[in-house]
Amino acid sequence: MSGPKDAAVPRREAAGGLAMAWAASADVVVVGSGVAGLTAALDAAEAGLRVVVVTKDAPEAGCTRFAQGGVAVVVGDVPGDSVDAHVADTLAAGGGLCDPAAVASIVAEGPAAMRRLQACGAVFDRGPDGRPARAREGGHSAFRVVHAGGDATGAEIERALLASADGLPMLAGYVALDALRDDTGRVVGLAVLDERGVAGMLHAPAVLLASGGYGHLYASTTNPETATGDGIALALRAGATVADVEFVQFHPTVLWMPGAGGRRPLVTEAVRGEGALLIDRAGRRFMTGVHPLAELAPRDVVAAAITRRLAETGADCVWLEATGIEDFTIRFPTVSAACRAAGVDPVREPIPVAPAAHYACGGVVTDVDGRTAVPGLYAAGEIARTGLHGANRLASNSLLEGLVVGGRAARAVAADLSGPRRAAGAAVLGSPATGIADRATVQRAMSVNAGIGRDAAGLAAASDAVEAATLFGAPVDRSGVEDAALTLLAQAVLVAAGTRTETRGCHVRTDFPERDDLWQRASLVIGLDAAGAPVVRTELATAGAA
Ligand code: SIN
Repeated sequence: MSGPKDAAVPRREAAGGLAMAWAASADVVVVGSGVAGLTAALDAAEAGLRVVVVTKDAPEAGCTRFAQGGVAVVVGDVPGDSVDAHVADTLAAGGGLCDPAAVASIVAEGPAAMRRLQACGAVFDRGPDGRPARAREGGHSAFRVVHAGGDATGAEIERALLASADGLPMLAGYVALDALRDDTGRVVGLAVLDERGVAGMLHAPAVLLASGGYGHLYASTTNPETATGDGIALALRAGATVADVEFVQFHPTVLWMPGAGGRRPLVTEAVRGEGALLIDRAGRRFMTGVHPLAELAPRDVVAAAITRRLAETGADCVWLEATGIEDFTIRFPTVSAACRAAGVDPVREPIPVAPAAHYACGGVVTDVDGRTAVPGLYAAGEIARTGLHGANRLASNSLLEGLVVGGRAARAVAADLSGPRRAAGAAVLGSPATGIADRATVQRAMSVNAGIGRDAAGLAAASDAVEAATLFGAPVDRSGVEDAALTLLAQAVLVAAGTRTETRGCHVRTDFPERDDLWQRASLVIGLDAAGAPVVRTELATAGAA
C-alpha cells in the first residue's frame, strides 16, 4: 500500500463535510489487532492482498491478551469427547438461539485453525504424558479447553500472531471514524483519525472489522479500555444490521474489590474446572440444586445464581473456595498475581468474586465467512454475530471463533476481490453527525437497569437517561468516537432487551422470568432508521436446538 505518510503530502480530500488531510490505499483494511484481526490480516497477506491493519491503541492492547481459559477444540485425543459433543454443548449453552449449521461448521474447523496458530509459533501447555493439557469450563461435558502459560492463553496467542504479523503495515493509534461508501452503498474504504488526530482516508474495496465488543457499556467489565463497540456502531451506520445484542454475557467470577470499577481481573472458569466451589457469606455452597453441573453450569446460569444470592444475602460478592487446588500458583499464575495485587492469597483464603460484563454474544450479522449484507464490509470475532453463540456463549468458544472466522473472512475477501473490480464511485461517509452521551451516564444507566435482571420500567428509565444525556455532533477524537459508539450500543441493547419479553440465556427479565419458545425463539435483527436510531427490523429464525 501507499502509506499515509507519503499520502499526507499530495492529496487533500473531503468527505461528508470532514476535511481529509491525507489518503492511502490497500486491498483490505483490517480494523483490530486481536485474534480475529491478526488471523485475518495474516491470511489475507498470504492470499496476496495488500493489507493494512488499523488499531486505535497499541497492537496488543485489545481483549485477546486478557483471555485466560483457552481455546475449546476437539482434536480427537480425549477419550469420549467428539466434535458432536462440542456442538451439542454449544447448542445447549446457547439457549435455542444458535444457528446449528454455523455451530457445526465453526466447531469442525477448530483443529485446522489450531494447527495454523501453532505454525505461527503459539505454544500450548502439555500434560505429563506430553499430550496437550486440557481444562474444563462451564457448560462443557469434557476436558477440551487447551491453554497456554496456565491461564495466559490469550497473551500467548496475541504474542505469536503479532510476531508473525511483524512486517505487515500496522497503523497503531489510528481511530476508525466511519466507512467510506460509494453511491451504491458499497463500502470502499475507511475514514480514520491518525495518531496526531488528523483525519484521512484509507481507500480499499474491502473493510474487515475485528474490533471486539462493548464491555465498557457497563461500569465493571473484564474488558480492556478498547472495548467500546466502535466497530459495531460503524457497521450500523454503514447499513449493516446487528442481532442478539441483548445477550451481554456477564462472567460469573471476576475479582471483586470494594468500589472498584472499569476493567476488573478475571478469575478463569478453569479454576472451577479444577474443583473450586462457590460459597456465600455464610460459607454455604449455593450452586447445587440450581443445575446438575453445579459450579460448572453454563455461564449464564452461574452468573444469574450469584446475582440472586447477592440479592438474598445483601452481600456485594460471593467467594470462590479454591484453596484445595494443588499447585494453584503454577496452574493459574495470572489469577494468582491479580489476587495477590488485591491483597488476597488464593492458596490460603477464598477469592471474593462477583459477575461483570464480559462478552457480547451478538453483534454485526455475518455468515460463517464473515460477510455482512453490505458489499465490501466484513466482520469477524466478538464484533460479529455468526450464530455460534446464540443467547449465551459457551466458555472458550470465542478464541475458537476468532481463529476460524478470521481466516475465513480473509479468504472471503480474497475470493470476492478475485473477480472483475468495479471502479469505486465517489466516497461518502456513513453519517458524520451522531448522538453522543457522556460515558458515565451511559454506564450508570446500563449497569443499574440493563445488567443481569432487567424489567420494562428499568429499561425505559435507562433509555430516558441516555436520551436526556445525548447531544448531536461529529466526534473529533478517540473518546468522542468511543462515546458515540457506546451511546448507539446502549440504544440498540435497550431496544432489543425491551422487545424480548422473556428470559433466555444471558438476557434475564425479572418481569418475564420464563422462556417463551412460542414466539421468541428467533434473533432480533436491528438496523438504523432514517434518523439514525436503532429499530428492530425483523427476526432471524433459527432452528436452534436446546
Ligand atoms: C475464562 O477463562 O473463564 C473465560 C473464558 C471465556 O470467556 O471464554
